[in-house]
Amino acid sequence: MKVKILVATQGGTADLCAQEMVDILEDRGYEAEATLMGDFGIEVFDEGGHVIICTATYGYGEIPDNGTEFFEALVSGKPDLARVSFAVFGLGDTTYEDTFNFAGEKFDAILTECGAERVIERHIHDANSGALAEDEAIEWIEGWIGALQAKAAA
Ligand SMILES: Cc1cc2nc3c(=O)[nH]c(=O)nc-3n(C[C@H](O)[C@H](O)[C@H](O)COP(=O)(O)O)c2cc1C
Repeated sequence: MKVKILVATQGGTADLCAQEMVDILEDRGYEAEATLMGDFGIEVFDEGGHVIICTATYGYGEIPDNGTEFFEALVSGKPDLARVSFAVFGLGDTTYEDTFNFAGEKFDAILTECGAERVIERHIHDANSGALAEDEAIEWIEGWIGALQAKAAA
């Protein structure tokens, strides 16, 4: 089943991270696709399966513009996501200390509330750390693959 990476970005870094993840997933034999959140609605969850949220944070802890409608639809619709597994890769900057990585936190919370199963812990990237988000994305998706394989073997 295809791994869907849903991207909310303003400056493009989250999209770069998602592309790195697609490359790694395809290398490992997964079918994977990265799509901007504004390009579809929450029917993307209808067939269940693996979803990865890759989101930056803007404003006062807000979801980037291209993901706002999608997020609001989740909050108001509260779909039953029992057949969905998810993981969140969040990008932020500790310069914004009061709202650091809030968008990733919000997605993690709403998907859990809707009954989706978290595969691995949310990643929290800090642009202020000097570490490249793309590098962390590669390491994190390896962890995601490992967690999925461990579950399958259990
Ligand atoms: C105007 C502006 C507002 C931001 N607000 C926040 C914020 O509230 N919390 C946070 O953690 N990061 C915040 N950031 C940092 C971005 O989330 C971070 O730079 C991220 O890597 C950008 O990803 P993108 O290129 O995919 O949009 C903000 C950045 C800008 C430029």
